[in-house]
Amino acid sequence: MIFVLLGPPGVGKGTQARLLAQRHNLEAVSTGDMIRAEVALGTPLGLSARAYIDAGNLVPDDLILQMVEGRLQNRLAAGFLLDGFPRTVPQAEGLTALLARTGRQLRGVLQIVVPEERVVERLGHRRVCPECNRVYNLESQPSAVPGRCDDHPGVPLVLRSDDDPVTVRHRIRVYHQQTEPLVAWYRERGLLREIDGLGEVDDVAGRIEAALDGAVP
Ligand code: AP5
Repeated sequence: MIFVLLGPPGVGKGTQARLLAQRHNLEAVSTGDMIRAEVALGTPLGLSARAYIDAGNLVPDDLILQMVEGRLQNRLAAGFLLDGFPRTVPQAEGLTALLARTGRQLRGVLQIVVPEERVVERLGHRRVCPECNRVYNLESQPSAVPGRCDDHPGVPLVLRSDDDPVTVRHRIRVYHQQTEPLVAWYRERGLLREIDGLGEVDDVAGRIEAALDGAVP
């Protein structure tokens, strides 16, 4: 059971992936979190990727495909929610080929839609736990104790290095140029479902559940 969450920075892909994964016993796979972990560990991949992330540019397709393939092929039996992957047509082709090789099928692509001004605002208020990657929002989803993760109370929440307003605007432009073509690509293949990402987190989750329409147990 494999689904893709698609949409510009800040529309709520990570937030919804976490909820859906818990409800349906799926594994949420965020390429952004995977790359940030590599950067933190100082691996060769992390060292190559760091400048791309900090500038708000996409990490090259070959690095991403290699990383995702390693993660997915060891866990063929699991269901996945892919958050932030694929992000280019070559990545989508790579995913199709990987799934074909392993006898699996993509069940759907959930495109979350939120007006640009709202995502810039959301990202300015986002804070994340560097230990577990749980996402908070100073306005809409605060932690119980200000500045601390609910699951790791000893760990201070941080602002992501690419969440400053200038880099956020750049990431949105990169999305339009390099990732948005996937909307038509997946629509042509009958896999795209559009989700209104405005409103309370639970309301958006409800729309996603309705769109899944019994496709997951
Ligand atoms: P990545 O980490 O994937 O970032 P992104 O796609 O830019 O998305 P975000 O994590 O910023 O936002 P989100 O949609 O998950 O929103 P969230 O749920 O956090 O990628 C980072 C970088 O890594 C890329 O720029 C690139 O360099 C590299 N990279 C990653 N994948 C790659 C790939 N496949 N190829 C090449 N490079 C790649 O929510 C945002 C905020 O809003 C939070 O504060 C949240 O609490 C709040 N919020 C959520 N829902 C709501 C709601 N309904 N109402 C109000 N607030 C809400």
